[in-house]
Amino acid sequence: MAENKLIWPARLHHFALTTETPEILADWYVRAMGYEKETYGNGWLLSGAERNIIILTGNKSEVPFSSYAVEDDSHLSNISEQFSAAECKIEKFSTPLFCDNAISITDHDGNVFVFGVPLRGKAGRDQLPGRLQHIVFATTQLADQVSFFTNTLGFRKSDTVFDSDKDPTACFMRSDPEHHSLGLFRAPEARLDHFCFESTCWNDIRDWGDHFSEERIPIVWGAGRHGAGNNLFIFVEDPDGNKLEISAEIELMTWEQEPREWPHEERTLNLWGTAWLRS
Ligand SMILES: [Fe+2]
Repeated sequence: MAENKLIWPARLHHFALTTETPEILADWYVRAMGYEKETYGNGWLLSGAERNIIILTGNKSEVPFSSYAVEDDSHLSNISEQFSAAECKIEKFSTPLFCDNAISITDHDGNVFVFGVPLRGKAGRDQLPGRLQHIVFATTQLADQVSFFTNTLGFRKSDTVFDSDKDPTACFMRSDPEHHSLGLFRAPEARLDHFCFESTCWNDIRDWGDHFSEERIPIVWGAGRHGAGNNLFIFVEDPDGNKLEISAEIELMTWEQEPREWPHEERTLNLWGTAWLRS
């Protein structure tokens, strides 16, 4: 069993997303997800009580960085020391939502992961509950990426999906008791796959569905229940085609629970029906 609890517990806090049309995308997120927007850099800071996204001008659908909140300065300092001892290249990183001692580390695909202590965010509650909870990337080098996140950063494997040749096609990893805060799919190219907001119950999914309906935003996958993670879900797409997931009832696992295996089939991704298979 892996004993390196380096980043544990850490939670996805915010990320940056690039687009060629920042105004259109930001306005969609205000309408669809109830964000407040304010200008930031060459784009927008989208604020919610439990969900924050930074929209920047650039190529469509790239993620300049994903930020995970750690417990406190002491936890961050411990992480930083251990990354250094493992001869990982860490850099100071500035993001408007973390204290100025945040650090970043880059994976094999060039994705930047930031660890830091959050500044005080927006008070109150979001109109519809949905805490930014996980982000998922597609990769051409799944095994190396999984090794980096588990052995170097201290994520814990929850579920791995294998094809009939016993090659891994997906891996879901946790950095606190929630089944996954990061996922990776084998695919022909490295890119953003989707990101997810965790609501509190099935009735929230209903309310999100009704809200999207009022806004004429169609659900593109679901409602369903994932096999790996056991969470209820619906998916919608933003104007750039980025996939957003609203989830509920994600499985909780202890640090000690061993990784499990799933077959590469639709049922693994949707116990209720058809699935979006990436490879
Ligand atoms: Fe997801």
